[in-house]
Amino acid sequence: MKRLFSLFCVTLMAAFAWAEVNYEVIPLPRSIELSKKGEVFTLAEGATVTWASGNEQMASNARLLAQYLSTDANFRVKAEADVKDAAIVLKIKNEKSKSKSENPEAYQLTVGKKGVVIEGASEEGVFRGLMTLRKAIGTEGGEQIELPFVTIKDEPRFGYRGVMLDCARHYFPVEFIKRYIDVLALHGCNQLHWHLTEDQGWRFEVKSMPELAQKGSVRQKTVIGRNAGIYDDQPYGGYYTQQECREIVAYAATRFINVIPEIDLPGHMLGALHVYPELGCTGGPYEVWPIWGVSRDVLCAGNPKTLEFLKKVYDELCDVFPSKLIHIGGDESPRDRWKECPKCQAKMKELGLTREAELQTYINKEMDKHLSAKGRTLIGWDETLEGGLSENGIVMSWRGMKGGIEAARQHHRVIMTPTDYCYIDYYQLKDDWSQPHGIGGYLPLSKVYSMEPIPAELNEEEGKFILGAQVNLWTEYVGYPDHALYMLLPRLDAISEVQWTPKEQKNFDAFKVRLERMEKLYDKIGYKYCHKTE
Ligand code: ACM
Ligand code: ZN
Repeated sequence: MKRLFSLFCVTLMAAFAWAEVNYEVIPLPRSIELSKKGEVFTLAEGATVTWASGNEQMASNARLLAQYLSTDANFRVKAEADVKDAAIVLKIKNEKSKSKSENPEAYQLTVGKKGVVIEGASEEGVFRGLMTLRKAIGTEGGEQIELPFVTIKDEPRFGYRGVMLDCARHYFPVEFIKRYIDVLALHGCNQLHWHLTEDQGWRFEVKSMPELAQKGSVRQKTVIGRNAGIYDDQPYGGYYTQQECREIVAYAATRFINVIPEIDLPGHMLGALHVYPELGCTGGPYEVWPIWGVSRDVLCAGNPKTLEFLKKVYDELCDVFPSKLIHIGGDESPRDRWKECPKCQAKMKELGLTREAELQTYINKEMDKHLSAKGRTLIGWDETLEGGLSENGIVMSWRGMKGGIEAARQHHRVIMTPTDYCYIDYYQLKDDWSQPHGIGGYLPLSKVYSMEPIPAELNEEEGKFILGAQVNLWTEYVGYPDHALYMLLPRLDAISEVQWTPKEQKNFDAFKVRLERMEKLYDKIGYKYCHKTE
């Protein structure tokens, strides 16, 4: 009887050892053709994933796939170059068979008699393909995995698929930034927009001005709740050394994610003004802000030292971050001080300007020249349009879509990140008592999913100026890594289909079924997320 029972258990375990593979992952691939005959390829534990030697990015791809299958599904594969008849082959499409317009992120994933082949238009395409395989396998490994024969052809809808993280209101450790990058990579994102400076703290080391981060990163206290005038009386700080930033850039690069740094100017600058009060219109003193909101104190646009300061900061920023795109902020910069400042008024006269908004454009244009000379392109929040945007600038439309529409009509490139669809610091459930304390607002999963980044108001030509979409995680009320993940997931799942999947293929009910499998993966890896969805 005992033996019979053991036999029963072993049989049961063997049955469960077979993973249930499902290629309908998030974001949903463009085309999935399953074999009609229902054949499967059996991937056995210990199988090899191979690539042609001499390509470090492909080697990294293979090692990452092995690592993912191990952590997600407890399933071991070996990564080894140049192995004949390996069960998983990673390769790059040869130049001759590629069309000129081929998207470098395109890939084809085939499962057939001989095994799995992931062929990318580039190393990046291979990476996107192996992520699809990873998610299709999910969490259930065992000794073998039965992969149904399939041909998947896939490429993203938008070239810009971003997520912003505010590390200035709260500092997040380097290890968490890497974890955040892992989550982005899992969702096919390719841009981390890293918000590094604020009124509440300056978090980027500038070697030629060491006090900027040393002193500008520390606020003496933080308001409790929503600016009620009660404080914790605890100094709060932290900044990223240039070495750490480089480490993060390199980590992201292996996941084919570009890191766009943002130094917000000319507003949101109290961190810097605390250290260099002479750069403000009133001369200070200024404290690193212990409250939330928009400060009237901004950089003085009439002081020549302001541009000298900014150029020094951006020189070091560009040294550390290879990103072609550099974010100069530009949001929420009140012009009250400029109206009253003799230096700012003199500058307006000198330049023949009639509106203070044009002073911001003057700074933007100077920064544009400086960054363009380094081969970089600036991104600004949509306020940068108000005095006329510099020619090359890209607009990040956050106050609704109207800034983006106007910019696209002026033939500026646009990234759509409107508050109503993309501000994931808002509550995701109506019942805000069940949620961690937050900034307010209500942005449920279904609303994020419903976003269409190309507004109907634009004609086809103008629509081409929309580069993509992004969600933003502002962190006034988000001080801890698990809370940040909770705000991100599963709304990142929703935006990832907005960013990746052709709009005709989107379907919220089907998406929610796909999400159930993703949640199993989050549970396995230990990513916090909001279980309930609305
Ligand atoms: C912003 O939310 N102030 C860009
Ligand atoms: Zn001034």
